[in-house]
Amino acid sequence: MSPHSPSVVIILLSVSPSAIPHLITVMSPLQVNYTEVAEYCNSWRNFDDIQDSWTSLKYVIDFTAAFQDQLVPAAGRGAWNDPDMLVIGNFGLSWAQEVTQMALWSIMAAPLLMSNDLRNINPRSQALLQNQEVIAINQDSLGAQGYRVLKVITSSDILSPPLLSRLQ
Ligand SMILES: *[C@@H]1O[C@H](CO)[C@@H](O)[C@H](O)[C@H]1NC(C)=O
Repeated sequence: MSPHSPSVVIILLSVSPSAIPHLITVMSPLQVNYTEVAEYCNSWRNFDDIQDSWTSLKYVIDFTAAFQDQLVPAAGRGAWNDPDMLVIGNFGLSWAQEVTQMALWSIMAAPLLMSNDLRNINPRSQALLQNQEVIAINQDSLGAQGYRVLKVITSSDILSPPLLSRLQ
C-alpha cells in the first residue's frame, strides 16, 4: 500500500505531555524529523489531547503557530499535521469559538474529525460542520497547510492558507 494513500490514517504520536512531563522535550517539533515521519505516516498528532474548552483550543493554536516553521513544511497531500479533533457541537465552546475552530482547522489543512454526539447536535453547529465553503478550503487539492503570516501583539493573528486556486 502506498504510504501516501489519503485513505490511510496512521496515528504516530498521541502522548499527553501533561501526563508524562519528561516527554515534552522528546516530543518537541524541533526534535522530530517530519520529513521522515511523512515517509511512513499520512497523519500524525502534534500535541496534547484537545479538551472541550477555549483554553485548550487556544493552547493548540498557539503551539501550532509557535512551531509552524517545523510543522508547515511537513504537510502536504497525504501528509497531514493533526492538531486533534473538532470539538464543535459539544458543550465547551461559544458560537464564536466554534466558528474559530472550524476556520482555523480548515486553514491548517487539518483532518476534520468530529467528536460530537451525532444524535444531539444543535442545527447551527451541524451547519458549521457541513459548511461547504469552509470545507473546500480544508480540502484544497494543493494540500498545503496555512500558517500565521502576522502576529499582532494586541492579540490578533492573521493566518493564510496557500490554495491551489490562488496559484492558477
Ligand atoms: C530527516 O529525514 C530525511 C528522510 O529520512 C533525511 O533525508 C534527512 O537527512 C533527515 N534530517 C535530519 C536533520 O536528520
